Amino acid sequence: MLELRNISKQFASRQLASDLSLCVAAGEIVALLGPSGSGKSTLLRIIAGLEPAEQGSVWFDGKDITQWPPERRGFALMFQDFALFPHLNVRDNVAFGLIEQRVAKRAARERSQEMLTLFGLANHGRDKVWTLSGGEQQRVALARALITAPRALLLDEPFSALDAELRSSLQQEFRQRITAAGMATLLVTHDEAEARAMAGRGVRLVEGRLQVLW
Ligand SMILES: Nc1ncnc2c1ncn2[C@@H]1O[C@H](COP(=O)(O)OP(=O)(O)OP(=O)(O)O)[C@@H](O)[C@H]1O
Ligand SMILES: [Mg+2]
Repeated sequence: MLELRNISKQFASRQLASDLSLCVAAGEIVALLGPSGSGKSTLLRIIAGLEPAEQGSVWFDGKDITQWPPERRGFALMFQDFALFPHLNVRDNVAFGLIEQRVAKRAARERSQEMLTLFGLANHGRDKVWTLSGGEQQRVALARALITAPRALLLDEPFSALDAELRSSLQQEFRQRITAAGMATLLVTHDEAEARAMAGRGVRLVEGRLQVLW
């Protein structure tokens, strides 16, 4: 269980989070909506440990992890932009997280190939990422996020660059894969239909506070 307790954060004089609390259970997807600039990405960065909160704490499975560096938290982030490394092929993009954890290259590549097979990309391991379609690239990005078996998954508008048809098919696929992997997942999106299709619960961040939508 991922838990935010009484988080406050401001930039300049704007209050992005004001005594904000939220729980996400293992295997649960919670959607985070809210106007542009309301602080959604900032909140994901606080959870990931990339940005400090002014007040409050982040907990995971009953432990206060507020002071833990990002790598110790073991969370995966997936952003729409700069998702993949253009200089690496598909297999090495997916293997990246394991190699960072000092898994031997050969073992990491084998595991990467298994993930690619699971994601329907078995024949693309040696391709440059930019030769893949948008949907294929997003699958590679999710495979890369999941390969280290993260304890929580933070998705920041993962489908915003895709066309409507591809979006809806990937939404279903991602939802199933995430639920099967059993991770606490927070999904930031501007699209309420997407949020409802993927998430059992939805909240909206407005002026530093969370409103329950469903
Ligand atoms: N490091 C920073 N220093 C100063 N201001 C920042 C910093 N990071 C973000 N901000 C400001 O905080 C506000 C919230 O930004 P954030 O990216 O979290 O919003 P968002 O809800 O993700 O918006 P969008 O939906 O457009 O992605 C913005 O006004 C932004 O300019
Ligand atoms: Mg954002």
